Amino acid sequence: MIAGTGIDLVAIGAFAAQLADRASRFAAATFTDAERAYCESAASKQPAQHLAARYAAKEAAVKALDEACGRAQLDHPALPLTDIEVIRDARGRPALMLHGAARALAERLHVDRAFLSLSHDGDYATAMVTLETLTAR
Ligand SMILES: CC(C)(COP(=O)(O)OP(=O)(O)OC[C@H]1O[C@@H](n2cnc3c(N)ncnc32)[C@H](O)[C@@H]1OP(=O)(O)O)[C@@H](O)C(=O)NCCC(=O)NCCS
Repeated sequence: MIAGTGIDLVAIGAFAAQLADRASRFAAATFTDAERAYCESAASKQPAQHLAARYAAKEAAVKALDEACGRAQLDHPALPLTDIEVIRDARGRPALMLHGAARALAERLHVDRAFLSLSHDGDYATAMVTLETLTAR
């Protein structure tokens, strides 16, 4: 059963300006060390497009979790975005790994699997998340 879905679109130019504002702590509060390491070392040499796609993934995951909360009639506080991490397999396929409060919420919602797709081209990056519950309740 689909527990929740989410989609998000990020304008890379404005996002890059936000990243460049070192005073804001935006990057540190949003991305894990592993996410930043991958994006800064990616072959494209355009870290902002990879980080923008990951930011879209986090926002899409929040939407999907929020939809699942609505169905379950459950309230939850805002989630730290570092609790929602984008990882990659050996072939470059992205996946979501949840930590801390996000993981606890997914467990309360009986989310068994999360699906993630990313794309970036030109000025925009986008992500789509689907959460699945395997057992009917
Ligand atoms: C997957 C593929 C179509 C992506 O094309 P692309 O135009 O570069 O993709 P986009 O720019 O829209 O999106 C890039 C994102 O796709 C994701 N991606 C990369 N490889 C992927 C794959 N194999 N499957 C799903 N997503 C993939 C990554 O998250 C990447 O973003 P990141 O580098 O920031 O992590 C291309 O890399 C490809 O053809 N790979 C070969 C896959 C294949 O032949 N598999 C066997 C048959 S199914």
